[in-house]
Amino acid sequence: MSRPVCTVDMIHRIRIMKTSANVREMRQEDSQAVSQLLQQLGYPATPEQVLDRFRRLDRERHGLFVVEVSAHVVGWAHAEHRQALASDPRVEIMAMVVDESFRGQGFGKALLRWIEAWGAEVGVKIVRVTSNLARTDSHAFYQRAGYVLQKQSAVYAKPLSAVEQTSLKY
Ligand SMILES: CC(C)(COP(=O)(O)OP(=O)(O)OC[C@H]1O[C@@H](n2cnc3c(N)ncnc32)[C@H](O)[C@@H]1OP(=O)(O)O)[C@@H](O)C(=O)NCCC(=O)NCCS
Repeated sequence: MSRPVCTVDMIHRIRIMKTSANVREMRQEDSQAVSQLLQQLGYPATPEQVLDRFRRLDRERHGLFVVEVSAHVVGWAHAEHRQALASDPRVEIMAMVVDESFRGQGFGKALLRWIEAWGAEVGVKIVRVTSNLARTDSHAFYQRAGYVLQKQSAVYAKPLSAVEQTSLKY
């Protein structure tokens, strides 16, 4: 299946406050930077693990984006184009994080708008995100961007073999 014609494939220049930043698709060589961002998100993974996962993901369905300033990656997001029998297709934000030193400067919003543009281009009508209640900053962020709380859920997991605690939490 060919990838949808997608302007977000192109490196896109955006202006955020007085800083010039790019949002673009993640590349293999971003694995180190994404590994550091995952640490901040609370889901540590080595650059090798990030690279391995990156290579395995079906890029038709998974949008992996970074925002960079002066060629330095300061934020990363992963969104999935989900199909289900029980609902219409949608884009689900799987993870998003901006480097602690760069928060509050519009980079998170830039990633979010990028994901929304990607969602529109792949033809979904809804972008959805699940965020831990403990992430109070993220709730204010999503609400500010127009996201409305739909429900609150409990998350269960059953390990089928020995796994690290962090793998269970995600
Ligand atoms: C949530 C997160 C991605 C936001 O990124 P950011 O770059 O700091 O956010 P932005 O600067 O783009 O903020 C966009 C808007 O949200 C508002 N906002 C962001 N964080 C806020 C907060 N804690 N409280 C109130 N408003 C907030 C900003 O004021 C801004 O408003 P504006 O549109 O009027 O300018 C970032 O704080 C982060 O990485 N947090 C840790 C990881 C996390 O929680 N990820 C989400 C889990 S899915």
